[in-house]
Amino acid sequence: MKQKTIYSCQQCGLQSPKWLGKCPDCNQWNTLVEETVTVARKGGRTVPLRSESTPVRLAEVSASDEDRLHCGIAEFDRVLGGGVVPGSFTLIGGDPGIGKSTLLLQAAGSWTRCGPVLYVTAEESTRQVKLRAGRLGVVAEDLYLLAETSLETVLERVRELKPAFLVVDSIQTVFTAALESAPGSVSQVRECAGRLMHLAKGEGIPTFIVGHVTKDGSIAGPRMLEHMVDTVLYFEGDAGHPYRILRAVKNRFGSTNEIGVFEMKDVGLNQVPNPSELFLAERPEEAAGSVVVPAIEGTRPILVEIQALVSGAAYGNPQRKAMGIDSNRIALLVAVLEKKVGYALLAQDIFVNVAGGVRLAEPAVDLGIVAALASSHLNRAIDERTVLFGEIGLAGEVRAVSHPELRVKEAARLGFNRCLLPAGNLKTLDQAKGIQLIGVRSAAEALEDLFN
Ligand SMILES: Nc1ncnc2c1ncn2[C@@H]1O[C@H](COP(=O)(O)OP(=O)(O)OP(=O)(O)O)[C@@H](O)[C@H]1O
Ligand SMILES: [Mg+2]
Repeated sequence: MKQKTIYSCQQCGLQSPKWLGKCPDCNQWNTLVEETVTVARKGGRTVPLRSESTPVRLAEVSASDEDRLHCGIAEFDRVLGGGVVPGSFTLIGGDPGIGKSTLLLQAAGSWTRCGPVLYVTAEESTRQVKLRAGRLGVVAEDLYLLAETSLETVLERVRELKPAFLVVDSIQTVFTAALESAPGSVSQVRECAGRLMHLAKGEGIPTFIVGHVTKDGSIAGPRMLEHMVDTVLYFEGDAGHPYRILRAVKNRFGSTNEIGVFEMKDVGLNQVPNPSELFLAERPEEAAGSVVVPAIEGTRPILVEIQALVSGAAYGNPQRKAMGIDSNRIALLVAVLEKKVGYALLAQDIFVNVAGGVRLAEPAVDLGIVAALASSHLNRAIDERTVLFGEIGLAGEVRAVSHPELRVKEAARLGFNRCLLPAGNLKTLDQAKGIQLIGVRSAAEALEDLFN
């Protein structure tokens, strides 16, 4: 064994033999920190996942989608792509206090249906976890708690217990004695995650690790870990709303951008199987500036309300603020409304909000944003049983989007009776029951239909 001093960037994980003021990789200043690593003299790092591994024909590998375990919370399983894959390694990131431990403890409780679950709590004592379990109503005979921060002990206990699932809360607080750097530093996080992954793949134990994300990202954790793991889930939410969204941002076993919706209650997280109803529950009636769009999250359509407020700027530069939508997109759509439809919006303050704390990233909501802006500008409400979707190009044209049939179906299911959609999509759709479909070619044509 040999001691070696290296400098590693806490931002991106770059390693350098000497200290540098600025990381040449991620260009951040003052992020290189001295770390001591002990290296085994003969390349111990190149151990294969299975020592007896030999090439096999693809056809001879026995694995099918039926192997997935379906013993957890349905919304959680959905985000993972329909159940947990044996041996998969999943990272769950999220802001402090958003409910990561709550979610995993509830999930661990239901996973015990498949066998023993080991929950390693490196941040809290077993008593604290017990109190939380009491509050959440988690009673599981086969749920084992281990308050331990030493990775070596964790690995040993896992080998003894042979659990069906392993949870490590959190990866920043466990550390290995093989490295001298502090828990939470890049090399510790990388080494611990690497060894846990080795265990997960080797023994076929699905493993879930919690990773912290700090505001300025000063602790290199999840960002760098994202490359190593099979699945990255983000647990998001807004402090002002009880809704929490579990979002897959990387998934080797399913669609990304699949979401699971939960509601945080004092008795824990409740699944929300019909998010559309929830997001529309508080919709104001006959209000100008409010419109409903059928958005697609992963494979699931969700109806959400977009609100816009256009009002004369009091002084100085007009403000453009957006919550839940990229503000550059709003700037573009305002410019289209100016130039192609002829609205005078230059001197107006513009605010756009997606109700319920949802984030919309797909361009299919463009037409909805334009309609909400126009509705607020004209101070005329849009018929409350109308929905609309479509991408808007710079020439003001409405372009076809993906999954029109899912969007129309979800809107019809919730009692909407008119749907404005891209003419290009209308051609491919059969007339649906109970909902009138109107194809539009341009933003101006859509607004003409809505307000005349
Ligand atoms: N007694 C309670 N009643 C209602 N809600 C509670 C109660 N205790 C905790 N919560 C909710 O649970 C959240 C904390 O959950 P949890 O500890 O699972 O978060 P976390 O993401 O694991 O946080 P950390 O990053 O600190 O580990 C709180 O923000 C709060 O909303
Ligand atoms: Mg926690």
